[in-house]
Amino acid sequence: MSSVDIPREQWATRFGFIFAAVGSAVGLGNIWRFPFQVGQGGGAAFLLIYLLFVAFVGFPAILVEFVVGRYTERNPVGALREIGSGLWQYLGWIFIVTTFVILSYYSVVAGWTIRYTILGLQNGYLADAAEAEGQFVTLATGLEAIAFHALFMASVVVIVAYGIQRGIELAVKVLVPLIVVITVGMAVYASTLEGASEAYAYYLSPEWGTIAAEWTSILPAAAGQAFFTLSLGMGIMITYASYLGEDRNLAEDGAIIIGFDTAIAFITGLIVFPILFTAGVDPGAPGAGAIFVSLAAAFGDLTLGWLMGAVFFGTVAIAALSSAISLMEVVIAYLIDERDIDRTRATLGVGVVLFLLGIPSASDLVLLDLFDLFADQILLVLGGLLLMILVGWSLANLAVDELELGIGDLGSLGAAWIWAVRVPVVVVLFVALALGVIQY
Ligand code: PHE
Ligand code: NA
Repeated sequence: MSSVDIPREQWATRFGFIFAAVGSAVGLGNIWRFPFQVGQGGGAAFLLIYLLFVAFVGFPAILVEFVVGRYTERNPVGALREIGSGLWQYLGWIFIVTTFVILSYYSVVAGWTIRYTILGLQNGYLADAAEAEGQFVTLATGLEAIAFHALFMASVVVIVAYGIQRGIELAVKVLVPLIVVITVGMAVYASTLEGASEAYAYYLSPEWGTIAAEWTSILPAAAGQAFFTLSLGMGIMITYASYLGEDRNLAEDGAIIIGFDTAIAFITGLIVFPILFTAGVDPGAPGAGAIFVSLAAAFGDLTLGWLMGAVFFGTVAIAALSSAISLMEVVIAYLIDERDIDRTRATLGVGVVLFLLGIPSASDLVLLDLFDLFADQILLVLGGLLLMILVGWSLANLAVDELELGIGDLGSLGAAWIWAVRVPVVVVLFVALALGVIQY
């Protein structure tokens, strides 16, 4: 039984919700994946396709999670039990499993970003690519990696334990402006580097030829990126919207959140590429540890690179923190709503379990990659796909009614939204899932 008699917390302000959702969305997806996908996918041509996917896949999908959360005022498990029948009732469990898997290794990667912030302050980046790689392998696994994983997880626990208003909302009101200000500042710094103009040309010139030749891989990549970057398919936006009042315009909030996420991703490219080009580091070498190898090597090569590197990795750590608290909150909301466990105990317990679950990832990079692939390309897309099918095809009226609260009569826009969910969103996720399974 859920404790209906205890009033559920809500965001103190509209901006609390927006900041929290932006904090969740802005993460490694923006800072590492996005610039490189643009660089490799045909520059501005990719950007255009990506923006189309954000508008026609990301936007309809984020609204689905919002309405489910606000309608049910429940965690994802409780929410799906309320709106689903038959097997659909259990869909929420996929979200819980996904967040557990992702958060266990996400915290390990976040631990590396803290380590690399400190490494900058120690003036420890190595300009030689091979040496930088060796350094990464040493720092990324073993006792030190486990210690930083523990430190990061402890920070997440402390914030989430303080609850929605005094914990998460307070934290994101500090963290998100910090991310925005530092990102813009670093882009200005990067524009002064000698490699800047060459880098902009690489990043921004539209190469329609690349798109024409490689659209079969670029289209699903752009779609997957749109979903991942907006923190969809994990129940996060369901959970955050469950703390909302009914007077909010969800479409407007969704557009603001997506705008911020896209802007930060775009600006990051204006930072990363000038740095790589100036240091003469190959911009086309991605991979799990790439941010800690090529970029760190570039920082090792630049004047004041230690300082800029420390600021950069520090910002990544902050972005990871505001994402990790959103993942943790999914599980905590479940334990509070459905199991009547108090917030402090739930957070501590989950923190300890996640710390232990992360140890294999902090010991073996192959395992970490495997978890990442399994969670991002299969669990996340599967959960998202099923939710879109359920809401789009059997709960359309309920969804439109809920969206109209705080907006007013949507008329044919409501139908347009539902049809976007039913066909383009579902098809794109299905293709992404199929490709993910094949790759796995
Ligand atoms: N949206 C995040 C990003 O772009 C990804 C993410 C957030 C993943 C929260 C897991 C948890 O990096
Ligand atoms: Na993102």
